[in-house]
This record gives sequence, structure tokens and C-alpha cells, in this order.
Amino acid sequence: MTSAATNLTLVDTDPAELEVDALVIGVHAAEEGAEGDDGPAGGLLLGSGAESVAAAFDGRLTGTLALLGSTGAAGEVVKLATLGALTAPLVVAVGLGPEPAGAGPAAETLRRATAAAVRALAGCRRVALALPVVPDDADAPASATALRAVAEGALLGAYRFAGYKTKPQPNRKDAVGSVAVHVPDAADAAARAELDRAAIVTAAVAQARDWVNAAPNHLRPPDFAEAVAAVAGAAGLAVEVLDEAALRAGGYGGILAVGLGSSAAPRLVRLTYIPDVPDAPRIALVGKGITFDSGGVSVKPAQGMWEMKSDMAGAAAVAATMLAVARLRPPVAVTAYLPMAENMLSGSSYRPGDVVTMRNGKRVEVLNTDAEGRMLLGDAICDAAADGYDYLLETSTLTGGQLVALGKRVAGVMGEERLCERVRAAGDAVGEPGWPMPIPEDVRKGMDSDIADVLQVAAGMDRAGHMIQGAAFLREFVLPDAPWAHIDVAGPAYHSGEPTGYLAKGGTGVPMRTLLQVIDDIAAEGA
Ligand code: BES
Ligand code: ZN
Ligand code: MN
Repeated sequence: MTSAATNLTLVDTDPAELEVDALVIGVHAAEEGAEGDDGPAGGLLLGSGAESVAAAFDGRLTGTLALLGSTGAAGEVVKLATLGALTAPLVVAVGLGPEPAGAGPAAETLRRATAAAVRALAGCRRVALALPVVPDDADAPASATALRAVAEGALLGAYRFAGYKTKPQPNRKDAVGSVAVHVPDAADAAARAELDRAAIVTAAVAQARDWVNAAPNHLRPPDFAEAVAAVAGAAGLAVEVLDEAALRAGGYGGILAVGLGSSAAPRLVRLTYIPDVPDAPRIALVGKGITFDSGGVSVKPAQGMWEMKSDMAGAAAVAATMLAVARLRPPVAVTAYLPMAENMLSGSSYRPGDVVTMRNGKRVEVLNTDAEGRMLLGDAICDAAADGYDYLLETSTLTGGQLVALGKRVAGVMGEERLCERVRAAGDAVGEPGWPMPIPEDVRKGMDSDIADVLQVAAGMDRAGHMIQGAAFLREFVLPDAPWAHIDVAGPAYHSGEPTGYLAKGGTGVPMRTLLQVIDDIAAEGA
């Protein structure tokens, strides 16, 4: 569904002589009172990597860029025609913010800036990046962290959803065809490995975004299961799909209840990755796969309801993580559980007041059919617990409460404290921030049911603390002695505004890169 993949290469020839359509350089905003290194440049400083480009302009580059409006503000893009001063016809100055003392730009700054530049260059066939990827130490090779950020930024910035238009769009420019990253040594195997990894990771993110962006009538639970099974099988993962009959036979009451209102039956997809090493740590991943959330009988307001096509973003991110894991082959065992259903209203829908027997026999009193995510996640977590795991990572667009508390960019992270801290740190490293939230005992007490084992949501329909009620409910199903984390991405999974940084409008792929980072982290510890 995505446009043709952008090709990434390394180059070590002089950037000023590269035969490309556009050459991207970095510019910093100089600290107050400081002068640009290129004379009176309006407080603009060239990022490292751009030295030969500046020389080709005889010391007039930053001054001209400043006149064109460049300030070095993070993410700002200013294009300058070179008219023969360099081989490339265009120089593109991308803002990197103030230059951090002693270190290069932060990874997230590079990731966002590179993406902004690559997006602004849509229509160019070949682009080269002469960005600060080498540490201050002149003879050092390119920094792996910086290269990873630049490569991911370039490829994520190039992402566009193909969409459903029936005619070609004359004004729609193609994504950049190839991006060459300038490094001291183009034969540097470690640098090449970072580019290869970025290609794998961003292809998986693009797959997650494509699924999230798909129209909900084009991706109902059976379609989603089939699509995931196809790509997972091709990647070499073991795939098992439970259809409605299998779910019924297995007693998956939560998944079935949510699916009752829809003419498209629910599914549960299990993907298994077996590492090359024995006795590796076992990680279970669970993702919410509601292909459309109308709220069911407790119907949602019409305004903005279309965004509920993104209510399978957790499952999309988990499936994408598995695709990357299958290709990167870390020394950990990873199993993914993806419950899929469509939450609709009809004569056969489940209703407020229903008592549902879950996969492990626990009985849940339903109070609001719009709290459907925890119903199907509970069943999926039961399967993970029955299979056994050392770590459980679950992610879902679970509650509007996450949006209220933390907004569009910061995920809510709940569960066992140390794993939550690992998730938070991993999210920080990859530019998918999260923040820990508590699960107080009195919240769980408020979910005691008079007639069943647990209430689905606190009685009285008090809207306070919805995010942590969701976590308290899910905790009912996890293994008592293994670390688990619940990542609520109701806000971060979907970007409703104009493109910014490496986010296009629509699905973001969050928290796929966080999950992968935690997996890498656990793998590194086990090794
Ligand atoms: N899918 C929604 C949560 C959501 C809201 C995701 C906004 C993305 C953006 C979820 O199923 C839901 O409806 N949650 C309810 C729970 C409530 C009824 C306990 C909510 O948060 O309002
Ligand atoms: Zn939902
Ligand atoms: Mn809902």
C-alpha cells in the first residue's frame, strides 16, 4: 500500500561534488550574543559535516541562508539554489536547534530534522545528507546512534499512505527515490548495519501505519487477520489464526462478546518467533485489534468517530514489531497475541449489564460496551499466561483518559514498576515518550461487582481515572510473578494534524519502535 521504498546508501566523497538533486546540511541557532562562524550570519551556525559546502560558497552560505529566513530552529527547512557553486542544484538547510555543548544533536532532533528535509524534497530523485553524524573527535567513525536516527528519519519522513483515489494525482510528488548519507568511510560495516536495521524497522513501521490508515470497511477482523498472517508467514514467523468457531470452542468470552454486534466475526492471531539460541528469555506481546470502535450499544458521539478506525493500532504495532524481530533475529523468544474484533451495534450486540465468562473462567460484569478493549485483551493475556512468559508487554488505544491525562504524544505506562521504567527509557531513546501511572488499590476496589468477579469499569460511570481503571482490569489476567507493562497509546497512535517531524497525518506506528527497543534491551541483558 505504501509507495516504493526509498533506498539508503553511504557515501564518503566530498558532499560538494555529489551528483544529487539536493544536498541537506544542518544549521544550528547560535547561542545569544555569539556570532556565526561564517561572519555576521544572523545567529546561524553550520552543523558539522557541511564544511566543504560552506567553503564552496566562499564564506557566504550562512549569511545567505539567514537572509532566506533560516534561524536554525529545530525542523525548519530552507532551500537555496546553488547555481553552480556545488554539483547539487539545491542546498537544503535543516534547523537543528541550539548546538548542544560537547555532543552532537540529540537523536530525536536528527530524526525529526531529517524527516522534515526528506518530506520537503518529495519529487527529488536523489538526495544526499551531510549532517552531523560524526562525534567531535575528528578521526572518529560516524556515531551509530546518530546514523540510526538519520536513517530512520529519512525513511519515516518519506512515508505516504497510498490511499484509495481512483485517478493519479497530478500534484502529488513521489517520495524521494534514494538518500545517500555522508560518512567518513562508506565501507564502515557498522554504519552499513545501522542503515540496514533502519530499513527493516521503518518498513515495519510503514506496514503498521498502512494498517491503521486503512479504511475500516477495507480492514475488518477477518481481513486484518489474513493480512497479518500473510506478511508474518512470509517473514518466517509461525502463524496461528483462531476463527469464530475456534474462539467459541476455546471459551474466549471477551473477544466473542465484543464481536457479537458485527457481521464480520472476530479473530485471534498468534505469531511466534523462535530464536537461534536455547533457553532465551520469553517475551509476550499483546495488542488491541478493534478494526472499528463505534462504542457498540454505549455508542460514541458522531464527531470524530472515523478516527476509531485506528483502534487496532496496538495490534498493528505488535504485528509490525514481530516483522522486524523476524528479520533482526534477536536472542529472545517472542510470541504475539492479537485479538481482533469490530465493536458495532446491532440486535446481536453485547450489552451493558451482561455477565461475560472470560477465557480463564473469570466472570466480568459489563457496564459500558465502549470499554471493549479490555474485554478482548483480557482473553489474549489469558493465552499469554497459559503459554508462559518472562515479560509481558501489552499495548492498546485503550482509553480517552490517556488523552485527557497525557495528550497526543505521551503514552501512559502502567504495570510492574521496573518494566514500566524500562519501557519509559526505551520510549525516550526512540522518540516515543511514555510516562508511568499508578494502579491504586482503591481503584481496583471500585471495580468489585455485586454479582460477578469483577466490574469492567468502575460503577457510577465516574469518568475520573479511566486510564488506570483499564490497567487495573488488565492486571486481573496477568501472571502474578512476571513483570508486565500496559502501554496506553490512545493519543500517540494517531496523528490528526498536518505532517510534523517524521509523523505523517494518520497512523504513527507508535509504540512499535519502543517495543523493539525493550526487546533489544532484554536481549542484551540475557546475552
Ligand atoms: N478506543 C477507545 C479509546 C480511545 C479514545 C482511543 C480516543 C483513541 C482515541 C476505547 O475503546 C474507549 O472507548 N474507551 C472508553 C472507556 C470508557 C467507556 C470506560 C473511554 O476512554 O471513554
Ligand atoms: Zn476502543
Ligand atoms: Mn471503545
